[in-house]
Order: sequence, then structure tokens, then C-alpha cells
Amino acid sequence: MIHLNKTDIENTNRVRRLNLINGVSGIKSANLIGTYSPITGPNLAIFSSVVHIGSDPALLGFITRPVSDVPRNTYTNIRETGYFTINHVHESFIEKAHYTSAKFDKGVSEFERCGLTEEYLYDFSVPFVKESRLKMGMKFVEEIDIKLNGTKLVIGEIQELMLPEDCLDDKGYVRLDRLFDVGIGGLNSYYSLRRMATFPYARVDEVPEFPAGMKL
Ligand SMILES: Cc1cc2nc3c(=O)[nH]c(=O)nc-3n(C[C@H](O)[C@H](O)[C@H](O)COP(=O)(O)O)c2cc1C
Repeated sequence: MIHLNKTDIENTNRVRRLNLINGVSGIKSANLIGTYSPITGPNLAIFSSVVHIGSDPALLGFITRPVSDVPRNTYTNIRETGYFTINHVHESFIEKAHYTSAKFDKGVSEFERCGLTEEYLYDFSVPFVKESRLKMGMKFVEEIDIKLNGTKLVIGEIQELMLPEDCLDDKGYVRLDRLFDVGIGGLNSYYSLRRMATFPYARVDEVPEFPAGMKL
């Protein structure tokens, strides 16, 4: 068993630490965020930090790295237009999705360069990804500065939500496996998904009796 304490982590070589710490939060969602710049046009980038913030109103957030070091087109475009799209990544286009993370010049469209298709739906002025079967049109509502490291939590409210009928069950649960969604490990590994089980809402009086855990 490897054991690293805070000092060991701090003393780890920068790239190795980045790989390690990006991996230890486990499987993350894979999404392409689409934005539009009135000057340079469409932009697309992969993000593994999209999280649920609340369902009423329907809010999702994502973490953007410090804006000061390198131009962050996604963030700048969102602040300029107030809108963005979130598009699930499926097994059929993981490689194309991955390469949207390259630092292309602002004028280069990742849609064109990475072989993905821009799609404009429901009068939404920013591009969706045609290849993606679960996509959302988002309106920027709030940003929260994380002072510890200069990152930001960018929050948007869902304005439009699209997914195939057979990927939504009668209770409203999304079948990520039928979408052929993928999970991200670290910054470069993509995993396929298999639905293993579903359980009812966990009420205290309905919790099964489990045998005692491992004795240490
Ligand atoms: C698997 C993967 C996940 C990523 N997740 C994030 C993320 O959550 N936040 C972020 O700021 N950058 C993330 N990136 C990096 C962005 O994709 C990359 O910086 C991209 O160039 C940003 O494009 P932009 O300048 O057009 O916004 C990720 C990259 C990869 C390969």
C-alpha cells in the first residue's frame, strides 16, 4: 500500500502530482462546452468538472482553471455572451472530444479542427454538438471565485434540454449507458459505463441488515 502525506504530495514532481491528484477524485463526467465569440466565432472544449448544483432552478456548474495564466476562451466567451452549451461525450467520439483540449489559437474552431459538427437549435445563439445525444443550452447565472487557487465555479441555468426518448425512464432517470456516455479518469483516460444496479430512496427503516465490516 502506498501512503503519501501532505509533505510527500507537495514534494512530488509537478506533472506526476497533477496526474495523481486529478485521478483521486474518481470517475468524472465528460462534457464538451460550446461557446461563441462575436469576434472569433464558435469554440468548444472538454471539461471533466461539470457538477449538479440544484434542480429547482435547474443549475449546473463547472470549474475553470485560473483565467489569468492562459487565455480561457470558454470562460471569456460565456462572460461576453451570457450563454453556453453542455454536451455529453459518447464512446463514438472520445478521441475528437479529447483533442478539443489543445490550446488552439482563438480564431481556430475546435469544431472544424476536431471533426465535430456545430448545431444551432431552438433559437439558441451558441453552438451545440450535433454528435452529442444529451445536450443542454445554458444561461450564465453566477460565478464563484475560489481564492485558494484562482479557479472559478461557473454556474448556469438550464434553458433547453434535449435527449433521446429511450434514454429517459418513466421516473425521469437518465440512462447514461444507453447514451453510451463515458467517464473520465485523471486527465487522459476514458472509461465506458455499465449500469450495475439501482436502489430505492434510502429510508432509515428500510436499510437492509448488512454483515459487519472488515475487522482491522
Ligand atoms: C479530460 C480533460 C478534462 C478537462 N477538464 C477541465 C476542467 O474541468 N476545467 C478546465 O478549466 N479545463 C479542463 N480541461 C482543459 C481544457 O479542455 C483546455 O484548457 C481547453 O484548451 C480550454 O479551452 P478554451 O481556452 O477554449 O476554454 C480538461 C482537459 C481534459 C483533456
